[in-house]
Amino acid sequence: MRKEKESNPQELSLESQRGPTHSVTIGPADISDGTYIAYLSDQVFNIYGSYSPIISQWFTSLRCRTLMAYTEKGPVGFVMTGPLLIDKGSLVASEVLAIAVDPEYQANGIGSMLLQAIEEQAQKMHVEQLVLHTASNNKAALRLFEAHGFRLKRSISRFYPKGQDALEMMKTLSRKKRPSTTG
Ligand SMILES: CC(C)(COP(=O)(O)OP(=O)(O)OC[C@H]1O[C@@H](n2cnc3c(N)ncnc32)[C@H](O)[C@@H]1OP(=O)(O)O)[C@@H](O)C(=O)NCCC(=O)NCCS
Repeated sequence: MRKEKESNPQELSLESQRGPTHSVTIGPADISDGTYIAYLSDQVFNIYGSYSPIISQWFTSLRCRTLMAYTEKGPVGFVMTGPLLIDKGSLVASEVLAIAVDPEYQANGIGSMLLQAIEEQAQKMHVEQLVLHTASNNKAALRLFEAHGFRLKRSISRFYPKGQDALEMMKTLSRKKRPSTTG
């Protein structure tokens, strides 16, 4: 059974190019989503290397957080983050380890919803920076990340196991006020 979704999940109605209107919601992943995450990772990340087992390991790690995009038919995408820098017990920077949308549902704004949701989650946790890597020729990903305010930090040649170069991108998040500790 899927865990109950967050009380106020984001919702989007989209006209799928190949089917009827679907409603998309974003919510925390359940352990049963692991099979779909491995399947989608195989589909979209194999051109870079054998990422499916690594992503499955991240998924079960308590240190990583995963949000899913669901339609009424089931999951259609996910985004995963992991800790990058912890200072004095506080998480300062997180890495967007992977983001993927089912090819049938791409270019409908779902990637954008997932990224927005993970940014909001990071802000609530007072994370100051998000970092990510993407292949330098991945046009769709670059458009998505640039539109969300990620900026190029450096390029890394032959970053991926299959030899592609990557771009490291970074976004500084606006600060959320920490709750006051005084009464
Ligand atoms: C990157 C990815 C997650 C984007 O998801 P998405 O749901 O298609 O994203 P959105 O619909 O929110 O669109 C984001 C931008 O990419 C553009 N885009 C989407 N698919 C595209 C394609 N095939 N070619 C060019 N641009 C594309 C959209 O037009 C949009 O740009 P715009 O706002 O300027 O129009 C998706 O393409 C994907 O899963 N790719 C495979 C996995 C991957 O490469 N992940 C990134 C590295 S971790």
